[in-house]
Amino acid sequence: MKYQSQKVAKAYFYCAMALFAVQVLGGLIAGWIYVSPNFLSELLPFNIIRMIHTNALIVWLLLGFFGAAYFLVPEEAERELFSVKLAYIQLFLLMVGTLGAVAGYLVGIHEGREFLEQPLWVKFGILIAAVIFLINISLTVLGGRKTAITNVLLMGLWLLSLLWIFAFINPENLSLDKMYWWFVVHLWVEATWELVMAAILGYLMLKLTGVDREVVEKWLYVIVATALFSGILGTGHHFYWIGLPGYWQWIGSIFSTFEVVPFFLMMSFAFVMVWKGRKNHPNKAALLWSLGSSTVAFFGAGVWGFLHTLHGVNFYSHGTQITAAHGHLAFFGAYVALNLAIFTYAMPMLRNKDPYNQVLNMASFWLMTGGMAFMTFVLTFAGTIQTHMQRVIGDYYMDVQDSLSIFYLMRFGAGAAVVLGALLFIYSTIVVRKREIITPGDANPAAGE
Ligand code: HEM
Ligand code: HEM
Ligand SMILES: [Fe+2]
Repeated sequence: MKYQSQKVAKAYFYCAMALFAVQVLGGLIAGWIYVSPNFLSELLPFNIIRMIHTNALIVWLLLGFFGAAYFLVPEEAERELFSVKLAYIQLFLLMVGTLGAVAGYLVGIHEGREFLEQPLWVKFGILIAAVIFLINISLTVLGGRKTAITNVLLMGLWLLSLLWIFAFINPENLSLDKMYWWFVVHLWVEATWELVMAAILGYLMLKLTGVDREVVEKWLYVIVATALFSGILGTGHHFYWIGLPGYWQWIGSIFSTFEVVPFFLMMSFAFVMVWKGRKNHPNKAALLWSLGSSTVAFFGAGVWGFLHTLHGVNFYSHGTQITAAHGHLAFFGAYVALNLAIFTYAMPMLRNKDPYNQVLNMASFWLMTGGMAFMTFVLTFAGTIQTHMQRVIGDYYMDVQDSLSIFYLMRFGAGAAVVLGALLFIYSTIVVRKREIITPGDANPAAGE
């Protein structure tokens, strides 16, 4: 690690991991309520715990992205951050907003609209934090070396922040409300966050495999082009049944089918880089997370997304457990695992230690990934039966839910494995110390280029 200001990333990563723990524990409680519906029904009703589960997820992923930007931009731009102080103020604002939102949810204050439930003042706080971030990181990049990685990262972060404006637009008309809602939700995970993912993955590949920068750059540009080409009009796959014109059924089906391409490219990119690279980097766990992320993203987003994206299929599967199966594996592969990859890569340097606890960290990869895969299969089976009984035969919703109870029990088991893996990851990254580095700074072998 060359630049002092990169250290702010550590605070971001710690906060992210704390919320990661809250998120998966919240998921586990929500999963138990599916098994035993009256569990905590007075104290912590399902809608509240679900809100905490999904909001904590989004916030910690964003904290991870911000931290990753503060970590990698100084190195790419070859200069210190514009302002370390602003970075800490931004983190403080985000954490106050998060705690405020959670406190609000616990007493029933929220704005509705899944994922965008934050009270209005928190939404403004997030906006201010985003502006601080954009100023800080853009001034850093503008005054330093510009690389494809920072260009793509900045483009992604600028666009995703601009999309936040649609979180404030909430018309009376339910069709329009849903339309703007998807501008945030879909255009985040299936357009702008993909650019952030490509940039971080590109950086990790550059560092871990030692391939030439030019090769990484060519892949990056193709990934960005295909992501935007498919993802923007791909929003149409959410416009099938919300009261928008019928042509969206074709536009959505066709363009969202192309959305598989950037995810396939990211997976191919990671494997080709490892195959071509000459370097034997000591941080094997970071490499495992990077390859795992791009692979699981391809299955979760690409394959499980395509599964129900054609309007003829979605007519039956819309809003069933098939959606939940896809949502879990896609978010886990693309964004959770990617964040854990950059934490695994950066934390030893940020804490000035060798890449330590590799075995524990890799065990946590298999526990979490295995758990998520099993959860996805179980929910896919549940969703298939649900679709048939509810949408084809026409049975009542609650009767159908009763016959799915065995799947919900298995989902809870899979979830417990994920939680165990998550706690093991956090433990392996921040608790155990194996060996202190004797020579400071650049002599750190883990920090090698
Ligand atoms: C890092 C891992 C996880 C990620 C990325 C994740 C992501 C999500 C997302 C995106 C949703 C909303 C789904 C939708 O609207 O279709 C959700 C809901 C949910 N998650 Fe998770 N989750 C994770 C871990 C867990 C765990 C460990 C459990 C434990 C069983 C769990 C149980 C649930 C439940 C019960 C819901 C509510 C589903 C519903 O309303 O029917 N999740 N999660
Ligand atoms: C990393 C990228 C992705 C993530 C994180 C993601 C996540 C999600 C989540 C959480 C939902 C549920 C939203 C809700 O109704 O509350 C959803 C819905 C959906 N996703 Fe994705 N997704 C991704 C990529 C894709 C791709 C590439 C496709 C198509 C090839 C796709 C197709 C769909 C469809 C069709 C729905 C609507 C399901 C329904 O009608 O109930 N997704 N996605
Ligand atoms: Fe989408």
